[in-house]
Amino acid sequence: MPSFWQRLLKKQPDASALRTNQANHLKVPQHLAIIMDGNGRWAKQRHRPRIAGHQEGMETVKRVTKMADAVGVQVLTLYAFSTENWTRPKDEVSFLMKLPERFFNTFVPELVAKNIRVSTIGDVSQLPETTQAAVAAAKEKTAGNTGMILNFALNYGGRHDIVTASQSLAAAVARGELAAEAITEELFAQQLTTGYLGSLADPDLVIRTSGEERLSNFLPYQAAYAEFYFTKVLWPDFGQADFDLALTTYTKRDRRFGGVKS
Ligand code: FPP
Repeated sequence: MPSFWQRLLKKQPDASALRTNQANHLKVPQHLAIIMDGNGRWAKQRHRPRIAGHQEGMETVKRVTKMADAVGVQVLTLYAFSTENWTRPKDEVSFLMKLPERFFNTFVPELVAKNIRVSTIGDVSQLPETTQAAVAAAKEKTAGNTGMILNFALNYGGRHDIVTASQSLAAAVARGELAAEAITEELFAQQLTTGYLGSLADPDLVIRTSGEERLSNFLPYQAAYAEFYFTKVLWPDFGQADFDLALTTYTKRDRRFGGVKS
């Protein structure tokens, strides 16, 4: 049986999805951020190596990219590799490093067809050269696209990002190019790795799969007013019904940004 969203989208595909969702009083987050957790446990349940979970997790990335695009999400940020993930076993890290290449090799034509632009946050320069090349090629091939931004957090750490931004602002102050009082929240946000997203830098909704309920250094500054949705579903199992439920739950949330209900 097709899900609610599938039925909805059948009626009004792609371009008008956002309008349709609004007409149905469904709120779609402009910026959706996801902590894709539970690949290892998914593999363990099946007596398979952890990398089998990551491989399956990659297929979920493809599915969720299409779902987010179909409902009118403007930025989809996926936590693919954190600065802390380097401490994992060597074989697992090297498999994770190969995933962007595998993903883009098979998926870029579809991204191009859907007008989706690839971008990244995090220090990509520390990744193996082949990984960097795959990421750069995907960015280049999708650079002219004007639809959803598919933003991978790769070698990303939120605290590191904040420290780096602080250092660059402090250096500008030390050089006499900037007054300390001129550092506003907006200026600070521009220095972060998400600065290029402008007014879309802050996620509206953060989803974390696998039952863990923490931020794990993911967009700590930007998620200050985000809504959080936690599900026990493991990332490789995350499907259309789970996506629908996350969005309908988000729709019911009353976002006040510290103010009072209007
Ligand atoms: C967390 O699960 C997952 C990761 C650290 C890697 C996430 C990567 C993907 C889903 C694939 C990314 C795809 C592309 C295209 C780059 P875990 O291993 O911590 O799971 P566990 O908590 O059950 O052990």
